[in-house]
Amino acid sequence: MSTDRAAAAAELRLLADQAAVCTACVLCQSRTQAVFSRGSSDAAVMVVGEAPGYHEDQQGLPFVGAAGKLLDSLLEEIGLDCDQDVYIANTLKCRPPGNRDPLPAETEACKGFLRRQLVLVDPRVVVTVGNFATKLLLKTETGISRLRGQAYPWWHRWLVPTFHPSAALRGGDRVLDAMRQDLGLVAELLRRAEMSALEPDPAPASEMESVQLGLFG
Ligand code: URA
Repeated sequence: MSTDRAAAAAELRLLADQAAVCTACVLCQSRTQAVFSRGSSDAAVMVVGEAPGYHEDQQGLPFVGAAGKLLDSLLEEIGLDCDQDVYIANTLKCRPPGNRDPLPAETEACKGFLRRQLVLVDPRVVVTVGNFATKLLLKTETGISRLRGQAYPWWHRWLVPTFHPSAALRGGDRVLDAMRQDLGLVAELLRRAEMSALEPDPAPASEMESVQLGLFG
């Protein structure tokens, strides 16, 4: 691992420690523990979900329930190893009671963590799963059904929105097929990135600061 990547991994560990004792919003009162991430800090793909649910709150890792198992198997279908090629995080690090939607104050209090995760992991492709993460990162009110099916240029990388895997558990084959199509796009973008690996980096280091300040507001 290069020095830069080792430094990024070290800062991510520090941030996870900070999230573990964070009291910036009311969710700290009801959480069992904060849920920061799983996967590799050196990943080409970063998945962003909404917020931890019951199992995640219990185990301290994102997407470990039935929806997470489905997500992992869909990522494996496109040849990704979820430990090495993917970094998974949520917009909120603590579980909203009863899995209610995150409140604006909670998103606001927590988004510094996600912003820094995105900058430090520096993935080629960001995959937002579900309405909440997609609307937050793309700064839009348009719903996931209309947004999915294409890749969006986003802060010098690609963002691919898709359905939340829990919607696929409820919605059956139609939703699952759509997710497979979207992840097919991810695979295609990774193939293209690999082919142009010798091209100059499109995100000069001097721009990283504005990227960091501007990410989803
Ligand atoms: N749903 C999410 O959005 N994130 C998780 O970590 C689990 C379920």
